[in-house]
Amino acid sequence: MHTVNVEIQANKPYNYPIFIGNGILEKAGSYLKRYIKAKKLLIVSNQTVYSLYGEQVKKSLLAEGFNVEILLLPEGERHKNINSLEKIWTKAIQYKLERKDAIIAFGGGVTGDVTGFAAATYLRGIDFAQIPTTLLAQVDSSVGGKVAVNHQLGKNLIGNFYQPKIVIADTAVLSSLPLTELKVGLAEVLKYGFIEKTCGLNKINSSFIDFLEKNKDLIFSLNPSILEELVKYCCELKACVVNKDEKESGLRAILNFGHTIGHAIEKCYGYNNINHGEAVAIGMKGAFFIAGAKNLIDENYVQKSINLLDDYKMSYKIDKNFTPDDLYESMQVDKKVQAGKIRFILPVSPSEVRIFDDISKEEAITAIKTLY
Ligand SMILES: NC(=O)c1ccc[n+]([C@@H]2O[C@H](COP(=O)([O-])OP(=O)(O)OC[C@H]3O[C@@H](n4cnc5c(N)ncnc54)[C@H](O)[C@@H]3O)[C@@H](O)[C@H]2O)c1
Repeated sequence: MHTVNVEIQANKPYNYPIFIGNGILEKAGSYLKRYIKAKKLLIVSNQTVYSLYGEQVKKSLLAEGFNVEILLLPEGERHKNINSLEKIWTKAIQYKLERKDAIIAFGGGVTGDVTGFAAATYLRGIDFAQIPTTLLAQVDSSVGGKVAVNHQLGKNLIGNFYQPKIVIADTAVLSSLPLTELKVGLAEVLKYGFIEKTCGLNKINSSFIDFLEKNKDLIFSLNPSILEELVKYCCELKACVVNKDEKESGLRAILNFGHTIGHAIEKCYGYNNINHGEAVAIGMKGAFFIAGAKNLIDENYVQKSINLLDDYKMSYKIDKNFTPDDLYESMQVDKKVQAGKIRFILPVSPSEVRIFDDISKEEAITAIKTLY
């Protein structure tokens, strides 16, 4: 079992633990008891996750004396919206949740994002905890306090920064995750390899890329100790970035490595027939091609990185149904565009990236053309 501490430097400094371990779900109640003063808990989940692990969690919460109510939301990204939010608010009101009570997100990133936003807004904010059950949620979305719902005009447009009291990541639950969902998380894991040094974690003494190269087979076979180590290290890297820049006024943008092109691809696909991991994997390749063409990095590092992505079965291509110009157009309306400038996070040396606001349209389009 590992613990990662997330420290937020705000007006009122704040910290919380992430517990990571194989099989720790059955102790969820005792972990929560230490960090949450609530009597009543509203657990928000979905049918898939709850039917697999719900009873186990409920039993451990009841054993600690919590009163528990369950709300199952319809699953999928298209339900990360105001309707799901309303369902949580309504249930919380009917269940008479008070300020001292708490809402628990139990599921993947969709559940975490919508539940976190509901907790941030119900009674102007009540305690919130995360029990992430996808790899993406364990290494990324449950860490750092971004909570949001989608608007019909765009993804994650309505949200807030709202940190949980505690995160409990049981790596054993990843065994029921479909391979496609595992790979969505792995795309973000690979991203941490490419940005590792820029995250600023002091204790780096070997390369995460080397770890990922060496342990690929163990990772795909869900080796328990390797998975724990992997989730822990990704959480440490993200916690380090969030500690320095909670609200994305600077450094936190590096977490969007691969996402400039990735988001544009998702948008062009209308968020159908491609998942986030596939889009980000293509986007990371695009970032390597731009950096290679600008001589920011040498050809060996470009090739090594592309090989690593391919080894992780991330050899995705863009459909020809839309053009590089369509994609560039899409990038210009992303919410991360500032003062009309498209922001690229590009590699500048192994495991180091920098933020660029001056990539020309020609440079971007030339790289995008290699992604078909
Ligand atoms: N807040 C952040 O910082 C942040 C960061 C990255 C992504 N996100 C958001 O995360 C969302 C994507 O999250 P996701 O990839 O976890 O998708 P998801 O929550 O939709 O989960 C994917 C699927 O896996 C199922 N599932 C979950 N756990 C399972 C398990 N253990 N076994 C079997 N099936 C399981 C779910 O029911 C769902 O069908 C997006 O909305 C994205 O915007 C947020």
